[in-house]
Amino acid sequence: MIRQAAWRLDRSYQWNYGHAPALPRVRRLPVGPGGRLFDHALNSPLGIASGPLLNSKWVEAYARLGYDILTYATVRSAYRPARSLPNIRCVENKELAAVVTRRLRPGVCPTLAVSLGEPSTEPDVWRKDVRRAKERIGPGQMLIVSVTGTPEPGRDAEALIADYARCAAWAVESGADAVELHLATPDPFTEKPQMIYENVLLAAQILYRVRTTVAPPVLVKLGVFRNPRALHETATKLAPWTNGFVLVHGVHRRVVDERGNPAFEGSGREYANVVGADIFPIASRQMEEMLAWRRAGAWDRALLAVGGISTVERAQYLLREGVDAALVGTAALFDPLLAIRFRQIRAAAVA
Ligand SMILES: Cc1cc2nc3c(=O)[nH]c(=O)nc-3n(C[C@H](O)[C@H](O)[C@H](O)COP(=O)(O)O)c2cc1C
Repeated sequence: MIRQAAWRLDRSYQWNYGHAPALPRVRRLPVGPGGRLFDHALNSPLGIASGPLLNSKWVEAYARLGYDILTYATVRSAYRPARSLPNIRCVENKELAAVVTRRLRPGVCPTLAVSLGEPSTEPDVWRKDVRRAKERIGPGQMLIVSVTGTPEPGRDAEALIADYARCAAWAVESGADAVELHLATPDPFTEKPQMIYENVLLAAQILYRVRTTVAPPVLVKLGVFRNPRALHETATKLAPWTNGFVLVHGVHRRVVDERGNPAFEGSGREYANVVGADIFPIASRQMEEMLAWRRAGAWDRALLAVGGISTVERAQYLLREGVDAALVGTAALFDPLLAIRFRQIRAAAVA
């Protein structure tokens, strides 16, 4: 565990974009049993979820440390700035809300509330940069590009669906090995607050359009479901049009400071995406549900586990349960050498 997080929480998104972390150079990575995702033979089934890898420099830094599935952070069809600082805070997950904490326990991966506002560079910028990222990863590694649609005032669902497909096509043109559709983002077409993945019809329409537009594998990123039935129904509806499910995005929660005031300044920021160590029980339970449905033959799609994978043991546990890959977000920022320990343990197990 490093003392300073790879992403400076006290600096702007733009600053972090321009300062890929200077991570230790590793001469020789331990070689363990590899992995496989779609047609790709991988050095390992461990990777990084969408978020930490802001551009090709970040992708390169983490690829060198032995993360083999590299997800390029979510991009859009238009530039969108990040929300003002603070936009990421360490929290403790309490019953009524996530509460800001200053107590970072040394050696323990934290829990974070993320309120970045889903920023993106201009398409001209990211399309060139995805190409560079693809060139900088090595054999046995793959690049996933996460994309999201940008709803515009007064435009209908068709415009949003077309926007998702446009971004996916651009990502593929730029060299993405797979595309991830970020659907754990607010649904702009309903009065009741919900995410796009909770609007199964809209989610299926987006997926269908993308699936029939691009050739490489298409993944969907999902959040927490209200109940097991909703999870089953959604997975069943989306399965025909997706190659895999990535879950969970995080837990959508109210975030307050120690005095009970909103932790993030500005309108629409009362709730944020809570990620990191504390969400493992929720995230892994949901993945276990998905695995059970897959084992029962409901569908046969890849399952990529995300959410609270803060230790090698947690990653190993999920892989033993049957997931195709384990992806880390928060741990990549606070414990970048996790991939090396993960590979050491796997290599030792087969030696
Ligand atoms: C700093 C940061 C930025 C993130 N940005 C994105 C993003 O752009 N798109 C996305 O789908 N998820 C994003 N996420 C969510 C992660 O992909 C992941 O779902 C979440 O962090 C849960 O994994 P963890 O508990 O290992 O952190 C971000 C997470 C972090 C910590």
